[in-house]
Amino acid sequence: MKIGRNDPCPCGSGLKYKKCCFGKDPAGAEDLKERYLRQYQIRLKGPEDIEKIRLAGRLAVSILELVAASLRPGMTTEEINTLVHDFTLAHGAVPAPLGYRGFPKSVCVSVNEEICHGIPGPRILDSGDIVNVDVTPILDGYYADANQTFFVGPPDARARRIVAVARECLRLGMAAVRPGATTGDIGWAIQRYAESQKCSVVREFVGHGVGFAFHEAPQILHYGRQGSGIPLVPGMVFTIEPMINLGKRQLYLLDNQWTAVTEDGSLSAQFEQTCLVTTDGVESLTPYALKD
Ligand code: MF3
Ligand code: CO
Ligand code: CO
Repeated sequence: MKIGRNDPCPCGSGLKYKKCCFGKDPAGAEDLKERYLRQYQIRLKGPEDIEKIRLAGRLAVSILELVAASLRPGMTTEEINTLVHDFTLAHGAVPAPLGYRGFPKSVCVSVNEEICHGIPGPRILDSGDIVNVDVTPILDGYYADANQTFFVGPPDARARRIVAVARECLRLGMAAVRPGATTGDIGWAIQRYAESQKCSVVREFVGHGVGFAFHEAPQILHYGRQGSGIPLVPGMVFTIEPMINLGKRQLYLLDNQWTAVTEDGSLSAQFEQTCLVTTDGVESLTPYALKD
């Protein structure tokens, strides 16, 4: 069968054939892996890499399950850090946050109006709080990155709303992932839904390639335009991790120079998974259910 000039390129780039491999010498054609590295600094993952990230990802999910089962009003965020740190080491892994660019703890714990990068410490969790726990184990040299926002005790209506919207934002962002779609399609799907719910999308922090290192190319914006950005191809592994505010999107950093907080004091929630682009869509390498 003949490939039309406007058909998708058979190399899987997501570009039109005429804009990609058309007219190029097949013998000398640069393979996708080399092209994505040269053009975008993206390191595509092979089957062995993916299996290792999947194992790190299963551990990430187990850590989140442990935290979910242990959360109690009256506990400190430091106690969450101890749980995560000890469990990670007990499973032969290392917590990537510890010492990363000077970050002092093994997990990010962000409460209520804290958007991300909360530093565990003496803060006591109260009934009604929402708390995001973001974990990144390194297992056999491979990184997987995931987070969830939990309720501490029974949530009020605002807490339920922001957590439900943030979770749905991740689900919709992931649903946009398939070869031929672009990074911008992910951001567009997230922004469209968040704003339809009168919530806002934080712009200062983004998803990212992950696996060989904590933060790799590309950046995954959680807002944007359809068709913008980089075409998705099989073997790309990146996080989607929308931070969604109940009020305005503006933020400031606490004096610790890490923790981002909503400027208007509104609640913020986030969910993150590590996603693999497959030949026909997406596979979560940190799979947990995105349901209420
Ligand atoms: N886990 C965060 C992310 O999703 C990064 C945390 S960096 C740290 O990308 F130093 F604060 F741990
Ligand atoms: Co991340
Ligand atoms: Co993370």
